[in-house]
Amino acid sequence: MRILVTGASGLLGLNLGLQLYESQEIIGVDRSKLAAPPFELVRAELLDIDAFLHLLTRISPEAVIHTAANANVDSCEKDPEGARKLNAWLPGQLSKACAVKNIRMLHISTDAVFDGMKEDGFYTEEDETNPLSIYARTKRDGETAVLENNPEAVVARVNFFGWSLSGRRSLSEFFFNKFSAHETCNGFSDVYFCPMFVGDLAETLVAMLEKGLSGLYHVVGNESLTKFEFGVRIARQFGFDEGLIHPISVEDSGLTAKRSRNLRLSVHKLSTALGREIPSVSTGLTRFYTQYQHGYPQKIRSYQQFL
Ligand SMILES: NC(=O)c1ccc[n+]([C@@H]2O[C@H](COP(=O)([O-])OP(=O)(O)OC[C@H]3O[C@@H](n4cnc5c(N)ncnc54)[C@H](OP(=O)(O)O)[C@@H]3O)[C@@H](O)[C@H]2O)c1
Repeated sequence: MRILVTGASGLLGLNLGLQLYESQEIIGVDRSKLAAPPFELVRAELLDIDAFLHLLTRISPEAVIHTAANANVDSCEKDPEGARKLNAWLPGQLSKACAVKNIRMLHISTDAVFDGMKEDGFYTEEDETNPLSIYARTKRDGETAVLENNPEAVVARVNFFGWSLSGRRSLSEFFFNKFSAHETCNGFSDVYFCPMFVGDLAETLVAMLEKGLSGLYHVVGNESLTKFEFGVRIARQFGFDEGLIHPISVEDSGLTAKRSRNLRLSVHKLSTALGREIPSVSTGLTRFYTQYQHGYPQKIRSYQQFL
């Protein structure tokens, strides 16, 4: 499949490109961060929408996977207008253009659209959203705009981990960097989530496109744990001292934006639609470690453009 991936320098976009370029025809959209990745690259500023839509016509992909966003929760609080433009307005415009040009649109959203007050379990796609931060609100509004403009589009609410271009983008890298420097760190013992390894996410997103799914799906790992437990699992996987991580409450974190404590999403709809089990964090951590053994963190960083 000929797939245009926005945000190709991002944690998800770059891993998508590197994971899929041998089996799919990947064209990544990057502003200026990447140098010579093994997939095709086009340079574009997505907010220059007219120029980008011309590019879309010229490239004529079969599908767009739209990962680009302002995914920094605290930076969105500081620039609500910028966050709204990138996270809500842009996906709507892109989705409308895809509908007109008969291109499949797969939009990436977040588990953070819920307020976390559902104490008794996992959120389903039918549950009411109630975003707590500017980031979450603009992402929720992006979902609405995408599906209103293009009911055939797919919206995937995700949470994932992996290696990144900067070596510092993901929670898994945060723990890895701390442990490998023998530094102590904190992990939230009262925030539950369902992380999925980014390689598993890449394969799942393509399976969703190949199956012709449309509408809203939760695309996360099939196991929930606290962020503290996730840190402990990383320490164990790599053979680090798990005593370096200390459990704390998110209330004591000093973070600016409000965060939900329950980010557990049900993947029942997705596994039924795909007719298969959704990968767990355990198998994902093994794959994350195998990449490390094969020098993937160094390889991914080598695609960084030094200006
Ligand atoms: N990371 C997570 O665990 C997580 C959890 C839930 C949901 N998500 C969602 O998953 C998606 C991907 O997240 P991520 O962690 O991969 O994000 P990321 O690492 O911060 O990457 C964001 C990407 O968007 C690009 N971008 C931003 N503004 C742009 C613009 N105006 N024009 C062109 N490109 C632009 C960035 O390019 P530059 O490098 O040039 O800035 C970068 O490639 C997002 O939609 C996010 O909301 C992520």
